[in-house]
Amino acid sequence: MPETNTKSDSAGIAALTSPSGIPQSAMEIVLAESLGFCMGVKRAVDMAYRAIEKADGQQVVSLGPLIHNAQEIERLEKDGVKVTDEDAIPDNSTVIVRAHGVTPQAMQSLKSRGFKVMDGTCPYVHYSQRKAVELREAGYAVVIAGDRNHPEIRGILGHIDDEAYVVKTVEDVRGLPPLERAGTIAQTTISPKKYRAIIEALREKTRDLKVCETICDATEENQEAIRGLSAEVEMLYVIGGRHSANSNKLVETAREKCPRATLIETADEINPEDLRGVRRVGLSAGASTPDWMIQSVVERLREIGSADCGLRIAD
Ligand code: F3S
Repeated sequence: MPETNTKSDSAGIAALTSPSGIPQSAMEIVLAESLGFCMGVKRAVDMAYRAIEKADGQQVVSLGPLIHNAQEIERLEKDGVKVTDEDAIPDNSTVIVRAHGVTPQAMQSLKSRGFKVMDGTCPYVHYSQRKAVELREAGYAVVIAGDRNHPEIRGILGHIDDEAYVVKTVEDVRGLPPLERAGTIAQTTISPKKYRAIIEALREKTRDLKVCETICDATEENQEAIRGLSAEVEMLYVIGGRHSANSNKLVETAREKCPRATLIETADEINPEDLRGVRRVGLSAGASTPDWMIQSVVERLREIGSADCGLRIAD
């Protein structure tokens, strides 16, 4: 996997933690050790803000929403990043490419139309694109485990002239012709369990299978962190979009140990009644939830719990 040096975790909002330790108070707030933005999303959003600073009056656009979080998109729009598609980009714009990446043809077309392009493609996605090219050049039939309609997969396919089989399930693999040599990569966000099942099914199709590990573990870190946290709190909130798969999965994991774990999109959804008698409340957030939204939930919990209620990061 590629090397990365940016990590979105609770360290970013650790400044809210009382330096003098946890006061004796009615309610303690415990943040998951890893929560919120994954590295790739954080990198793309930071890039967008750098683009705004340097825009010098020119329009900054992203091709499709930069992130799956309505509140953050609204904030970006207010600050100057317009969401658009390829055919509607105003002249002289700076274009931010999303973390999912694009095809080389789309990248080339943007440059040849004279736009300034900032490539927000996640390094993990770049790695998958490179692996697909390498497999193809080495003569392997490329098999991609993932969703053909997902932008990440469409981008990868563009790097290998659409010459790949895309499979979503073990049944899809069974429908493939026999393959002399096959190499496989996975969509960065599919479950490791699903990928393993697909790999096993592929072994029955070919005697020469090269497996590339391209699943990103960023969202897994948030899962691991919530597993530990959920065992030590009475109530737990996960901040994330209703339709965000990874946020819903966090709630599901948390409920194994903390049945009251709840998904909220914003701080306003917290009902103080739900916190009556709660001594310790946990907090986590999906990979598209920005720090400022986490901070607003912490502030809301402090209002409810008491002004000086304790805040710490889970061990
Ligand atoms: Fe990249 Fe993984 Fe996030 S692939 S965009 S770090 S979920």
